[in-house]
Formats: sequence, C-alpha cells, structure tokens
Amino acid sequence: MGRISYVNGRYLRHSQAMVSIEDRGYQFADGIYEVIAFYNRRFLDAGPHLDRLERSLRELSIPMPMGRRALEFVAQEILDRNDRNDGTLYFQITRGVARRDHLFPKNVKPSLVMTVGGMRSPKPAEFENGVAVIALPDQRWARRDIKSIGLLPNVLAKQRAAEAGAREAWLLGEDGMVLECAVSNNAIVNAKGEVITHPATHAILGGISRHVMLGLARGAGIKAIERPFSLAEAKAAKEAFITGTTSNVLPVVRIDGGAVGDGRPGPVTKLLQALYYDHIFKETGKRWN
Ligand SMILES: Cc1ncc(COP(=O)(O)O)c(C=O)c1O
Repeated sequence: MGRISYVNGRYLRHSQAMVSIEDRGYQFADGIYEVIAFYNRRFLDAGPHLDRLERSLRELSIPMPMGRRALEFVAQEILDRNDRNDGTLYFQITRGVARRDHLFPKNVKPSLVMTVGGMRSPKPAEFENGVAVIALPDQRWARRDIKSIGLLPNVLAKQRAAEAGAREAWLLGEDGMVLECAVSNNAIVNAKGEVITHPATHAILGGISRHVMLGLARGAGIKAIERPFSLAEAKAAKEAFITGTTSNVLPVVRIDGGAVGDGRPGPVTKLLQALYYDHIFKETGKRWN
C-alpha cells in the first residue's frame, strides 16, 4: 500500500497531493495545523487535539471545513488507507484559495489537507539519558496559543539548536522568563519535587501532552505549579524536561552546556515519563518500554 493523503475531499497518492499556489497558507501562512500521534493504529488524545484545532480556527475566524464528526471520519479513513501502525496524523486547514489580497476572501471554502507520516521521536537513548537544550530569545508573534502554520521563528530556533548540538531551543520572553520550546513545552522540578511550567496563556502553545502530564503529576500527588520561571531558576533546578506529542516526557540534562541537577534524569521526570508511557498504553495498547 503506498502513502495516501487527503486534499479537499480527495484521497490521493502522496506524490500527487497538491494545493494551489494561491492557497492562503502558501501566500500568508493564513492557517492552522494539528498533529495527533497514533500507535497500533489508534489515536492518542484525539479529542483534546481536535478541540484545540477547532479553537485555533475560531480564533482566526476560519470556519471548520466540515463538521467534527465528518473530520473524525476522514481522520480514521486516512489512517485506514495508509499502511503504518505507529506514526502521526497531520492536519492543515487554511482560509482557502483566493486571489492574493490581505483581506479575508468572501465565499471561499477553507482548504483541508491530512497526511500520515512517521514519528520523528527522540532516540531511545535520549529518552533514557536526557537531552541538551539551548536558550534563545523568542521571536514569535503574540498569539502563540494558536497553532498557526506561521512557524518561521520556530524553524530558525530549532535549526540553531541543532547546529549547537542541542535537541531543543528553550524560548525566552523579553522579560527573560522561559516560555516553551521551538516544538514542545517544558517544565522544571525544584528542590521540593514540585513541577513548574509556564501557564497556558497567549504566550505559549497549550500542549496536549503538557496538559496530560499535569493531570498525571497531580494524580500521583506531585504538586504542579503553573507559573513563569526564569532561565536562572531553570539552570538551578533539580530536574527539567520537555513534553510534546512525539517527545512524550523527555528529560533535559543540560541547558546552555551546564548540567541540570546532577546531569542525569531525575526521579520526578522518570516517574512522569513512566506515567506518560502508561497513558499511551491505556489509550492505544502500545508499550513504550
Ligand atoms: C511551539 C510548540 N509548543 C508546544 C508543543 C507541544 O504540543 P503538544 O503536546 O500538543 O504536541 C508544540 C507541538 O507541536 C509546539 O509546536
């Protein structure tokens, strides 16, 4: 079975799946996206991801291209038409195809594209031993809570991190507070074993895995505090980690070259990672370790 993608009502061979050069996603990054992981051909946290997709659209006054039920149906259909057990389903919805003009076009249907792809997860050794990150100024717009396809600052930050030998870039607000990462959220653990993560304001994307992690932490009796923290506080923390759809709970052991805690994944991070693996297992039957 070859790779099949969905474009505006049609299931196409991936190599033939195209959109117009006048699509407003291409012209203006006027659109949103969503990424849902699947394991054993079962979606992980599909409900919250689709809720966020609908919210992102609402915030930009882009109508849903079809009803929620129909969207869920197409999502299942595209999964069924692709021969992959574990991977990601990518959704992109733009304001549609129209003559290039900044104003919203009238009577234009939004464009909907769905593709199935691989996981691009960190390596098992990274989950086990942790990763390095660097801190960079956040250069994004003020509505980072919307999962916009305008990802140029994220692309540049991720590239700079890779060039510095780091897995992720931790993005700093103008006040020096840590917001989140180029493609994931982050958290630290203080000496009392409390988890601290930036609140889900307009300044960050409210990650679904961040939300799941907070629920798992609180369920296990770990105090989880949603407040900004500075880079200095992060560097002095006992533990640090990243959360994301493909990074799950990923330990961070170096920030800007300096060790976090003793330079190894700490007990709270490891517990949250194990609880997150349990969550994947309960939802999809997939065992991570
Ligand atoms: C900027 C940013 N923050 C956070 C996340 C994590 O969100 P989620 O846990 O829903 O994957 C992502 C995921 O793509 C992201 O791009």
